[in-house]
Amino acid sequence: MDRLDDFLDKLQEEIFDDARQALGEKGFERWRNPRFAGRIKNPDAHGRINGVCGDTMEMYFMIESNRVKKGSYITSGCASSSISGSFAVELALGKTLEELLDISGEDILSIIGGLPEDDRHCAFLAAQTIHDAVRDYMNHSKSAG
Ligand code: FES
Repeated sequence: MDRLDDFLDKLQEEIFDDARQALGEKGFERWRNPRFAGRIKNPDAHGRINGVCGDTMEMYFMIESNRVKKGSYITSGCASSSISGSFAVELALGKTLEELLDISGEDILSIIGGLPEDDRHCAFLAAQTIHDAVRDYMNHSKSAG
């Protein structure tokens, strides 16, 4: 049993080492502790985008005085999409709706410090999801009068 435990520990260490190398220290830490993950009930704004990769990302925001007071995300995607969603929400906090529309995939990549080449689109998916949430908010406020 001890040998199996040792083997599994070692395996996990190797997986973590590989992930740390691929994702960078900041991305790796966020993958291990995905801040802002989860849903918010009755959000003021909800974005949902299906990425070209087939993954879905959703974001939830509470808005107060035209600014993001609280936010969260969920994703069906890979580690990089979770990291992107988490940093995207972090970037969105405190921003006005207009400023949210200015957040780009490049902004999210730069706060992460980069992602593996094949996963860069995850950051763009996160940016699109923010923009979709703004659209959702605008639609509500229009129908409210
Ligand atoms: Fe689809 Fe990361 S979001 S691969």
